[in-house]
Amino acid sequence: MIVSIIYGAISFLVLATSFVAGDEPYSTNLEMKLRNYLFTNYDPLQRPSKTVGTHVTLNLLTVNSLDIKEEKLSISGYIYIHWEDLRLSWNGNTTYQNIRFLFSNENYMWRPAVIVENSVSDMSVISDENTLMRINGSGFVVWTPGGIYETNCACDVTYYPLDTQICSIVLSTWAYTSDEILLQLGSPAVQTSKYSENGEWELMSVFGQNTSTTRESKSFSRLMFTLILRRRPLFHILNTILPVVIMATLIVMVFKLPPESGERIGMSLTAVLTYAVYLTLISDNIPRTSLSACILSTYLAIILCLSALAVILTIIVLDLYFNIEGDDVPAWLNRFTHHVMVRFSCWKGTTCYNGRNRVTPTNKKQVLLSSNAVLNLGDSQIADQELEKKRKLSFDKTTDDENTVLEYSWKEIALIMDKCFLYIFLFLVLLATLITFVNLGCNY
Ligand SMILES: *[C@@H]1O[C@H](CO)[C@@H](O)[C@H](O)[C@H]1NC(C)=O
Ligand SMILES: *[C@@H]1O[C@H](CO)[C@@H](O)[C@H](O)[C@H]1NC(C)=O
Ligand SMILES: *[C@@H]1O[C@H](CO)[C@@H](O)[C@H](O)[C@H]1NC(C)=O
Repeated sequence: MIVSIIYGAISFLVLATSFVAGDEPYSTNLEMKLRNYLFTNYDPLQRPSKTVGTHVTLNLLTVNSLDIKEEKLSISGYIYIHWEDLRLSWNGNTTYQNIRFLFSNENYMWRPAVIVENSVSDMSVISDENTLMRINGSGFVVWTPGGIYETNCACDVTYYPLDTQICSIVLSTWAYTSDEILLQLGSPAVQTSKYSENGEWELMSVFGQNTSTTRESKSFSRLMFTLILRRRPLFHILNTILPVVIMATLIVMVFKLPPESGERIGMSLTAVLTYAVYLTLISDNIPRTSLSACILSTYLAIILCLSALAVILTIIVLDLYFNIEGDDVPAWLNRFTHHVMVRFSCWKGTTCYNGRNRVTPTNKKQVLLSSNAVLNLGDSQIADQELEKKRKLSFDKTTDDENTVLEYSWKEIALIMDKCFLYIFLFLVLLATLITFVNLGCNY
């Protein structure tokens, strides 16, 4: 009983004091009254002051996709934009002291006309009547229109698939020049605390810049939010780079296949076709731009040329090997084989091109014998023995290896050529692969 009397007395006192101070408690009626008080004679077309300073923060939620083929970045997020509209302040009037915030939307009050300048999906002033603006007693307005923004992004494909792209979202004022609306970066300019990672692109950094732009000889305020995105390479290493490099080694191995097997043309053509198919698969992912050449495409094109060349050389080698017309080996070819190709390919233990590891004559005889053992596969025994005799004669005549020109059979020349091509192709493929991946890797 006593407690309730004391409680009643206290609540009466509180009410009385607040009435004396003109401090009416919050009620929907009071808010209604405030709304009428503020919005009578309020024109939403009239801007709040001569130069309205607006502060913008980009809240980045996700990077949905960056399509380097279409050069399109899609992000989800919202723009936190605030400004001051002193016509909507009720701080000075104690009647409304208990109302802290008021809500309204763009149909009833002024808002800055801002567009996403590099949008590829729609070019209209950012508008969202369902997103309410929050106004506090000082006339301070906060608006957070959200959406999916699709912007153009000029992609540099040189280092695909180990590339880093720089994309931006450009906001600028529409209709109002920078004398009427000044866009400024909020602090922070970009908020990423709610950002969730994209599986393909890693967000390296994101920042805002204030600039200005000129349209129809008037200056407009502009904000640029730049995202630096780096591709996560694992998928592409497993699905693009690895198969491409493995296939490049196939081309080299064509020259290792014995001519008798009869599979060489089949294998070399298969290697070319596989490559051509792969090239189409990859070019589906690469933008059709000629502004920058993609290193990987160049590499693929080089390997494709090499594999086509391998087919042609294989045919030549096979033609020489089987020598259907039965001509003699021309002297120049014999000399060329002896002086260049044999040394280059270290054929059967002969002096290599670097001049070191010279073979002693005793070794050399064995070497020649063993080389003939290979030839026995297809050639007749008698012809081989004659050849061997001839060689031994010419070899015995002079011990100076430099002046002796052995006579080579077509089969031998073909096999020596094969070995040379094997080395040349191995070198070229390794060189191309090395240059390509050092280039790609250095950029990453
Ligand atoms: C406060 O609001 C009341 C009612 O809306 C109005 O009559 C009064 O003039 C206002 N006082 C001031 C100081 O503006
Ligand atoms: C309204 O918000 C601004 C910015 O946060 C603040 O400076 C100001 O004090 C607030 N006014 C009231 C009455 O809360
Ligand atoms: C960018 O913002 C700074 C600080 O707000 C200001 O001093 C500068 O003039 C602005 N630059 C442009 C080009 O608007």
